Amino acid sequence: MAPTPFNGRKPVRWLILGVTIGVLAAVGAELGGLYLAATHGWLPANADAPPPALERWLATTALNALILREATTKPNPVAYTDANFIAGVKLYAANCAVCHGAASGPASNIARGLYQKAPQLARYGVADENPGDVYWKIAHGIRMTGMPAFDGALTQKQMWQLVLFLQNMHYLPPAAQKIWNAVPGAAATRADASSNLPSRSSQEKRS
Ligand code: HEC
Repeated sequence: MAPTPFNGRKPVRWLILGVTIGVLAAVGAELGGLYLAATHGWLPANADAPPPALERWLATTALNALILREATTKPNPVAYTDANFIAGVKLYAANCAVCHGAASGPASNIARGLYQKAPQLARYGVADENPGDVYWKIAHGIRMTGMPAFDGALTQKQMWQLVLFLQNMHYLPPAAQKIWNAVPGAAATRADASSNLPSRSSQEKRS
């Protein structure tokens, strides 16, 4: 029998070897390209640009899948009492309003400069979300955005009081509504910065 061009070896083995080398070379080239892009300032690391579609899809899909896996489906354990609502409003004013806004008024300069933008929760709320999902976001934060993880800084009860407030901010009991209305809105914007600097007393009220 005449010898084959592969000296008797099976052609399929050469095919596997060729494909493996090809894949390794492609991965190596991609890693090399990524290294070059990162070290030469070709990757966008700035915050003042809209997120590309692929980044947005990946971040949103990963976050939703993680929350689906980890967040509790149990209802909010804190009761609908004045004390819990008032605690929620005060915690929000001290920890969240700077990014997520007050009952009315424009988004703060910090909120507008963030990548991703911080949703103004009085306008774009989380009332229709599963309470456990909202709790998860407050406790663990959202990676590569300005949203901090409050687990460790706040107790579980405080974070559930925040969830209670956020999910009912348009139906607050009168005592809590009064305090919510008094939470100061955004600081001066660039346009009125020189004429309307936040006064010392209004900064003290925030904390
Ligand atoms: C430094 C800014 C900053 C602070 C302070 C902050 N957040 Fe956020 N938060 C963000 C940003 C930015 C996002 C949007 C993240 C994204 O696009 O996925 C976010 C998202 C959220 C969401 C998800 C909103 C949605 O539509 O699903 C919730 C809920 C939330 N924050 C609650 C809070 C609470 C409660 C506090 C205070 C205890 C707080 N945040 C403090 C920046 C902040």
